[in-house]
Amino acid sequence: MKFFIDTANLDQIKEAQALGVLDGVTTNPSLMAKEGITGKANILKHYEAICDCVDGDVSAEVISTDFDGMIKEGEELAALNPQIVVKLPMIADGVKACKYFSDKGIRTNVTLVFSAGQALLAAKAGATYVSPFLGRLDDISTDGLNLIAEIRQIYDNYDFDTQILAASIRHTMHVINCAKIGSDVMTGPLSSIEGLLKHPLTDSGLAKFLEDAKSFDL
Ligand code: E4P
Repeated sequence: MKFFIDTANLDQIKEAQALGVLDGVTTNPSLMAKEGITGKANILKHYEAICDCVDGDVSAEVISTDFDGMIKEGEELAALNPQIVVKLPMIADGVKACKYFSDKGIRTNVTLVFSAGQALLAAKAGATYVSPFLGRLDDISTDGLNLIAEIRQIYDNYDFDTQILAASIRHTMHVINCAKIGSDVMTGPLSSIEGLLKHPLTDSGLAKFLEDAKSFDL
């Protein structure tokens, strides 16, 4: 399973990259706004800075909601760096734009997916990634993991190439359960990646090994 970090914060991206397990980055307008970046030129510059911090894919989301606007924005984003994946909302014009970009060989991530039907449409339109929002479904007492499992089954039934990018990950159990289901990618905060490291028996075991090693008199 690929690990993406879901942030526009350069320090956090660098930290995850330094761990050696990072495969990419996803951003969205809320995450970009959180970093206080304003103005088109600065936003484009920030995407370039993110690409410089990581070896893998970087999802950059369009703001337009009409087909022509999405194409213009998406082409501009894709031209920044070959690492850029154009992120499109799951609306009718987003699906049309996905097909357009897919036919042109520009990679896409269809976002804000909350049903198996939406994921099926994204795959039919040639999406590179589909982003079902696991945590936001859990937030409204709906089983987000069940959606990941449904999409896995549908994509396997027809050998779709679209990769399932489990998004809106909140914690380590989301990551582990997505891996068990067979999600291709997960995107989550740094804490969901670093949290996988932790086990009290690792800490106490290491403390004992180091205590016993004192007798080595090196
Ligand atoms: C996906 O690409 C989104 O950026 C993200 O995962 C949304 O997560 P949230 O529900 O924590 O905002």
